[in-house]
Amino acid sequence: MSKEDNIDNMLDPLFIQESGEVYRNPTQVQMSQIVLPCHANHCGELSVGQLLKWMDSTACLSAERHSGVSCVTASVDDINFEHTIEVGKVVNITAKVNRAFTSSMEVGILVMCEDLYTSHQWKVCRAFATFVARRTEAGKVQLKQVIPHTQMEQMEYSLAAERRRMRLIHAEIITDLLSCSTAQLGECQTQEYKDAVPAERTRVESVELVLPPHANHQVSTFGGQIMAWMENVATIAASRLCNAHPTLRTIDMFHFRGPSHIGDRLVLKAIVNNSFKHSMEVGVCAEAYKGGEPLRHINSAFMTFEVLDGERKACTLPRIRPEPIDGKRRYKEAIARKKIRLDRKYIVSCKHTEVPVSVPWDPSNQMYLSYNNVSALKLMDTRNNWVLTSEKNKVRLYTLEENHMLFFKVVMCVSVPAEQTFHLLSDLRRRKEWDRHYEECEVINQADEDDTLYRITAPSVRKGGKGQDFILLASRRKPCGPRDPYLIALRSVTLPTHPPTEECTRGEVLCAGFTIWEESPSDTKITYYNQATPGVIPYISTDIAGLSSSFYSSFAACSQFLEANKDNVVTLPKSSL
Ligand code: COA
Ligand code: ADP
Repeated sequence: MSKEDNIDNMLDPLFIQESGEVYRNPTQVQMSQIVLPCHANHCGELSVGQLLKWMDSTACLSAERHSGVSCVTASVDDINFEHTIEVGKVVNITAKVNRAFTSSMEVGILVMCEDLYTSHQWKVCRAFATFVARRTEAGKVQLKQVIPHTQMEQMEYSLAAERRRMRLIHAEIITDLLSCSTAQLGECQTQEYKDAVPAERTRVESVELVLPPHANHQVSTFGGQIMAWMENVATIAASRLCNAHPTLRTIDMFHFRGPSHIGDRLVLKAIVNNSFKHSMEVGVCAEAYKGGEPLRHINSAFMTFEVLDGERKACTLPRIRPEPIDGKRRYKEAIARKKIRLDRKYIVSCKHTEVPVSVPWDPSNQMYLSYNNVSALKLMDTRNNWVLTSEKNKVRLYTLEENHMLFFKVVMCVSVPAEQTFHLLSDLRRRKEWDRHYEECEVINQADEDDTLYRITAPSVRKGGKGQDFILLASRRKPCGPRDPYLIALRSVTLPTHPPTEECTRGEVLCAGFTIWEESPSDTKITYYNQATPGVIPYISTDIAGLSSSFYSSFAACSQFLEANKDNVVTLPKSSL
């Protein structure tokens, strides 16, 4: 079983506490269903629409268990379906609230499939949905906080803040990227293929009347029901392109823009936006109306389908001929979304240890690289098996070996307020004031307010040897709540504008950075983390072996630098955007 599967299974850890009691997350809700023919399509596979309804209900019940009030689905992050599920199998769905913000909560959902004859279980998908507590007469609800108990809960709690950040800027970033990349694609990409299928042939429009069984006790339509209706029309559109049975692989992140209620008519429209060699993108739009009222836009989603042959291999698909104007625009946007989707899958879903040390940075993967950067540091921060290796004047060096990898961290306290410490350490140009390994540091690009690309040069550890340089993405984050630290995450990226040079060896940083905790208004605990790569080990190896304490001189100098600048105004690099 892979490491990621292990992590997913730990969504339901029966955690034995020191007292001997078994701990179970109080927000956890489970649903188990036998897949019957009435839940399946004509090929005997569970319809994804039905699965989405079960996932939404389980997650909603978990959100309501935490909040104690009625909740609605606000958004669902990208879902990647790894397997289809046959009739006769059992679907086990587990949902729990990872974190509550003000009126919204992130709910983690894990779907497993079980073969009752062999007891074998495997993962079908994992999803993160946001639920919002319905407003009361008194106004917006203030939810109680989730208190993480296990290391896994702490990790999900911490990552939930970063996923929320990505979610809230997602629509805006995608719109920018689409307009930018479709302009680059120009006219040439809407090639004419001889046997192309006119997109018009795949168009579907279908209406549904929202009845009481489709709604909750507050008369609002279930989000899962709307997703199921959307999946239904998308499947019809996909089948019309290939005249075969399509399999849904992914649904992109989407947001329920407004509510729908019993008595609404829902108009669902779908069309194939583009088809690639082995996959196609179907776009679906859901609008609601009542009586003579104008249509209300409820949701738009983009789904990727494949067609599988008898050996479950993806078949080659017919090309599409887009309609003029909107069709051509959607055709090009589908190409841009395909690239964004691949970046996301590769950078975000890839197991941390499998992401190459230096990933090429570009504006279309900036959001995901910065997520990866911050979440890798957060994961390191939640590890609890560190070994104290060395200590001098309360500056402590810890190490941790895991899966043939070496991690180290240095912990110290300073009498400087946390926010000022954060500002001073965020600007890597100032690090040479205390770290002799930072010879030069230039800002290459201020990607956004909180993410900066730097080039750093470091002297050689050996006399007369070549110096090293690093291209680093620095992502800084302020706390999202009282249980969060300030955070500065660092990782290497590659940039075509800054290839390695003759003069320097290109060094690489997989994951490093600072977490900064406020201990009191004037005292701060700083932890510096580093996942040692060959480029970094020479600088720390004698410390780890206990032969020197150069880490101490660096961090003592860091402490002096912070204290000397504790009242100074800090100016950070300006955004170039
Ligand atoms: N993804 C995740 N959360 C989102 C979001 C998105 N795309 N957009 C808004 N939110 C969160 C906000 O961050 C906020 O959380 P917080 O209170 O913890 O800070 C919460 O939603 C409410 O935001 P607010 O600004 O007060 O309201 P809004 O006008 O943005 O409305 C909804 C947000 C979700 C309530 C609104 O869009 C809605 O009613 N959608 C329909 C929900 C529904 O009925 N779903 C079932 C199927 S129709
Ligand atoms: P956009 O047009 O920018 O993609 P929309 O929210 O209007 O965004 O639509 C989302 C998707 O729904 C479209 O990409 C398209 O695939 C599908 N769609 C929208 N309108 C129609 C329609 N009238 N008929 C069929 N499909 C539609």
